[in-house]
Amino acid sequence: MSHVFHESVCSGGPGTAVQMGCHAEVDPNVQLGYLYPNWTGPTVIGNEATIRSGTVIYTDTTIGDRFTCGHHVTIRARVSIGNDVVILHQTTLEGNLRVGNGVKIMAHVYLCSATQIDDLVFIGPGVTFLNSKYPMREHTPVQGAHVETGASIGGGATICPGVTIGHGAIIGAGAVVNKDVPPQTLAYGVPARFHPLPENLPEENLSELLLNSPDLWGKKMP
Ligand SMILES: CC(C)(COP(=O)(O)OP(=O)(O)OC[C@H]1O[C@@H](n2cnc3c(N)ncnc32)[C@H](O)[C@@H]1OP(=O)(O)O)[C@@H](O)C(=O)NCCC(=O)NCCS
Repeated sequence: MSHVFHESVCSGGPGTAVQMGCHAEVDPNVQLGYLYPNWTGPTVIGNEATIRSGTVIYTDTTIGDRFTCGHHVTIRARVSIGNDVVILHQTTLEGNLRVGNGVKIMAHVYLCSATQIDDLVFIGPGVTFLNSKYPMREHTPVQGAHVETGASIGGGATICPGVTIGHGAIIGAGAVVNKDVPPQTLAYGVPARFHPLPENLPEENLSELLLNSPDLWGKKMP
């Protein structure tokens, strides 16, 4: 088992629990196992993780193998992330949410609590997920969005509380999605309106593009 922890990697302090798999590369100034009140379990990260400086990952969070994480990513507690997930810089995952396998999340994305992202989903830069329709005006529980397998969300889109984006759907840049999007549907505009997928496109994201796309800044660079 080998961990490449660069100098001055911080833990969350006394009592911190981190379980890290083999062949991790963790930059300086990363906080793993960040403690919060009433935490119960460690931060668990699988094999071959790459985690860049400025990132903070709380306890009670589980992440699979081959996790690639950019700079200044915040992942709060009770988060579950699958294998082969990429999360780019300045993205925030609030606590209590789920991300599947083979998901790519670009920079400056906000995933609020109770969001569910299934497998092979692409989330473009600056996408915002919401979970409360009338914030601070009602006692109902938060309602996160659900993005089904193989869907793609364009940059700057806003996904409203409780919305389901069907499998293979494509959301246009800047859309405000306030209704469920049927599977394999194109949705764009404010509010988003529905159209057929362009005929030449496959019915869902191509796994080879999500899993093997060249990373000009990471360890896959020749
Ligand atoms: C929504 C999208 C998939 C549509 O592509 P398309 O089906 O090829 O559509 P077209 O470019 O032919 O445009 C069709 C019409 O929709 C409009 N339109 C296209 N994208 C739009 C968008 N995001 N919001 C509002 N209107 C849009 C076009 O202006 C055009 O209108 P017109 O017929 O009145 O001229 C694409 O424009 C898009 O937003 N892709 C997401 C890109 C992205 O965020 N990538 C992130 C990785 S960097």
